[in-house]
Amino acid sequence: QAGVFTYDPGFTSTASCDSTITFIDGDKGELLHRGYPIDQLAAKSHYLEVCYLLLYGSLPSAAELEHFENTITRHTMIHEQMHNFFRGFRRDAHPMAIMVGAVGAMAAFYHDSTDISSPREREIASHRLIAKVPTIAAMAYKYSIGQPFVYPRNDLDYAANFLHMCFAVPAEEYNVDPILARAMDRIFTLHADHEQNASTSTVRLASSSGANPFACIAAGIACLWGPAHGGANQACLEMLKEIGTPDRIPEFIARAKDKNDPFRLMGFGHRVYKNFDPRATVMKQSADEVLDLLGVENNPILATAKELEKAALADDYFAEKKLFPNVDFYSGVILEAMGFPTSMFTPIFALSRTVGWISQWKEQLGDPQMKIGRPRQLYLGETVRDYVDIEKR
Ligand code: SDX
Repeated sequence: QAGVFTYDPGFTSTASCDSTITFIDGDKGELLHRGYPIDQLAAKSHYLEVCYLLLYGSLPSAAELEHFENTITRHTMIHEQMHNFFRGFRRDAHPMAIMVGAVGAMAAFYHDSTDISSPREREIASHRLIAKVPTIAAMAYKYSIGQPFVYPRNDLDYAANFLHMCFAVPAEEYNVDPILARAMDRIFTLHADHEQNASTSTVRLASSSGANPFACIAAGIACLWGPAHGGANQACLEMLKEIGTPDRIPEFIARAKDKNDPFRLMGFGHRVYKNFDPRATVMKQSADEVLDLLGVENNPILATAKELEKAALADDYFAEKKLFPNVDFYSGVILEAMGFPTSMFTPIFALSRTVGWISQWKEQLGDPQMKIGRPRQLYLGETVRDYVDIEKR
C-alpha cells in the first residue's frame, strides 16, 4: 500500500528509539533535559553541569560536579601531532570541513577509548570529546585567519577557555569578559541536545554498526553542517545582512511564501515545534543583554531580525503553517557581536551538541537489545526485466 511501510526491528531500535534524555512537546513549545525545562537550565545552570545531567541522568552534587569539571578541564589539550592535520587544509577551508576531519581523526590518536564494549572506555571517550572538540573548533578558526594556535588553559572555565583559544594572541594578554563568557556558556547550553534531530539520528545510526565514537561524532558534524539543520545559523545571519533594512522585509516574506521560489526564511520553522522554540525565546533575551554589554545599541541586524520576526508572525502564511523562530534565528546576531565570523557559527553549534550526540550514543550502546540500523524503503522502481544486449537497444 503506497506510503505505508513497516520497519524491521533492527531499524526501529535506531530510528524510532526509546530515550530518557530529552523530551520535546512541539505543540506547547516545551523542551526538557532529563525533566528539567530548558529555560530553567539556561537561567540557573551552566553548560558543564548540563553535560553531567545529559550524560548521567541527574543533577550532580557539588563534589560530583567538581570532579567532572576537573576531568573535562584536564582533557582539553589535543595530541600535539594533530596540529599537523590542520596544516594540510587550505587556509580558506570552512571550519566545519576541518572539524569533520579532525574529530574523525581522533580515532587515530585515542585508540584506548574506542573499545565500545567497555562502559569505562565509553565514558573516557565521552569526556575526551566534550573536552577536545572546543579546542579543535578554536584551532580551525585560528588556522582560517592565519593566527597561531592558542593552547587551552586549566584556570579558565569551559566557555572562557573557548573564547580565549579563539581570541587571544601571543602578543598581548587577553582577559575574557565574564559576561561574554556567560553568554557563550548559555549558547552552549541552548544547543546541547534536542532529541532525535537529523544529526543525532545520524550518530545513532552510525553507532549501531559498532563504529568508534569519534567516527560517529564526525558523522553527526557532517550532517549538522547542512543549511536546513545546524548550518541555518550561518544562513540566517547572511539572510539578515542581505535584507539589510526593514523596508526590504516584505520582499523576503513574499519570497518565503512563493512556492516557485526555493528561498526559505532561515531561522524559521521546525520539524517538531509548531509553537515557539523555547530556545529562541532565551536566545532573544541573551541577544539584548550581550549587545547592551558590548555597547552595540541599535544593532541594525538585531533590529532587522526583530522586525522580520514581527512581520512573519503577523502573516497568515506563517500562522497557518505554524512557523516560528527557531534556535538559529537570533544566535548568529549574538555570535557576530561577540566577534565570530559566520563560518564559525555552525562549529559552535557542533561543539555544543557534542554532549547530546555522545549522551545518546552512550544510551544506545547501553541497550543490550540494540541491533544495527537498517532503514527500509518504499520501492517505486521497475519490476523485474531481462537484460538487453547493446545491439538491440
Ligand atoms: C535545527 O530537528 C531538530 O531538532 C533540529 C534543531 C536541533 O536543535 O537539532 O532544532 C536545529 O535544525 C533548527 C532548524 C534550522 N533550519 C532552518 O531554520 C532552515 C529554515 N527552516 C526550514 O527549512 C524548515 O522549517 C525546516 C527544515 C526546519 C523544517 O522543514 P519542513 O519539514 O518542510 O517543515 P514543515 O513540514 O513544518 O513545513 C510546513 C510548510 C511547508 O510548506 P507546504 O509544503 O505545507 O506548502 O511550511 C513551509 C514548508 O515548505 N516552510 C517554510 C519554512 N519552513 C517550512 N516556508 C518558508 N520559510 C520557512 N523557513
